[in-house]
Amino acid sequence: MSAIPLPMALVAEVTHRCPLRCPYCSNPLEMARAAQEVSTEDWSRVFAEAAALGVLHLHLSGGEPMLRTDLPDLIRAASTAGLYVNLITSGVTMDAAKLGILVDAGLDHVQLSFQHADAAEAERIGGMKGAQARKLDAARLIKAAGLPLTCNFVIHRQNLHDVPAMMALASDLGAQRVEIAHTQYYGWGLINRNALLPDATELMAATAAVEAGRVLYAGCMAIDYVTPDYHGDQPKSCMDGWARRFIVISPTGQALSCHAAETITSITFPNIRETSLADIWLRDPAFQRFRGTDWMPEPCQGCALKEQDWGGCRCQALALLGDAAATDPVCARSPHHHALQGLIAARPSVAPDFVYRQNAKPTSP
Ligand code: FES
Repeated sequence: MSAIPLPMALVAEVTHRCPLRCPYCSNPLEMARAAQEVSTEDWSRVFAEAAALGVLHLHLSGGEPMLRTDLPDLIRAASTAGLYVNLITSGVTMDAAKLGILVDAGLDHVQLSFQHADAAEAERIGGMKGAQARKLDAARLIKAAGLPLTCNFVIHRQNLHDVPAMMALASDLGAQRVEIAHTQYYGWGLINRNALLPDATELMAATAAVEAGRVLYAGCMAIDYVTPDYHGDQPKSCMDGWARRFIVISPTGQALSCHAAETITSITFPNIRETSLADIWLRDPAFQRFRGTDWMPEPCQGCALKEQDWGGCRCQALALLGDAAATDPVCARSPHHHALQGLIAARPSVAPDFVYRQNAKPTSP
C-alpha cells in the first residue's frame, strides 16, 4: 500500500429532509429523520478536523441543506476553519434575507439543481408544484449577491433531449458552470432505472448536444458532463478512487467513502460522533477496504488502467452482481460485462411511470 493521499473534499449530507421527490435520488431507501441528525457542535468540530487533515472544499448537501435552521452556524464554522464552502441546494426555500445571512456567514459558492428547462416537466420530475419559479428566483438572488453559480441538471431518458435548452437556461441565468450529469443508479434511482436509463442512441445525441454547447459557450460558461457508464466499456473512476479524495458524512454521522457506501452492508462504517476524522481517514478498516489497488481481483490487478479507474465503482458492483469486491461489470474485461449488456437490452422501449418516495410529500416551504 502506497502513502495515504490527503482528502480534498468533505461532502456533508446535513439532512435527508427534502421538499422534492426526484425519482433519481441517490439517497438511501431508508432516510434519516431530523431527530437523528448530527448536531451543530459535532458538525463544527468535524469541519475543523477536516481542515486540519488537509480538506480544502466543503460541500453542504442533503436532502435540502437549507432545511437545517442552523445552516448559517454550519457555514460560519466551516469558513472559520478555512474551508471553501459550497452549498448544494434545490433553491426552493431560498429568499433574499436567508441568502444574505448565509453570505454573511461565509458562503463561497452555490450549486443550484434543476430537473428540466421546462417548468411543467421540471415540476413533474421533481414532484413539487411551483418549484421552477422558486429556482429561477434563487438563481437571480445568488447572482445579485455576487456569488459564483453552478447550475446542475440531472439527465435521463425523460429529459435528455432538452440538453440545449438546459445549457441556454444556465447561460441566461449567468452561471459560470453547468453540470449535465446522467443519472447514476443508486438508492431510489436504482428503483427507477427503467424509467431513467437512456438507450445508446439517446445517449449519443445528448453527448453531441453537450459537445456543441462547449463550442457555443466557450469562454463564457464551463460545461461538465457526467455520462452513464452502463453504456461504456471502461468503468468510471468513482469518487476518484475509494477513500482517495472524498469523505462523505451522512446526516446521522456515518463517515463514508461515497454517498452509496451504506449499501455495502458487509462493511461497518465509523461514526464521527465516536471517532476523529483523522482516525477514520488514516486507520479505519472501512476506509482501507478498497483503497489503492491491493484489494483488486484479476483482471483488474494486471490491468494497465488500474491507477486510472481505481477499479470503477464498488457500489455498482454490489448493485449489479451482489459482490462489492467484484470487477465492475461496466469493464469489457469483466466476466459479467455481458450481463450488464443484457440488462440494457431488456430495458422497456416505453419508459414506465416514475416511482416517487411516499414519505417525502410535496411541501410548501
Ligand atoms: Fe460507492 Fe461508487 S458510489 S464506490
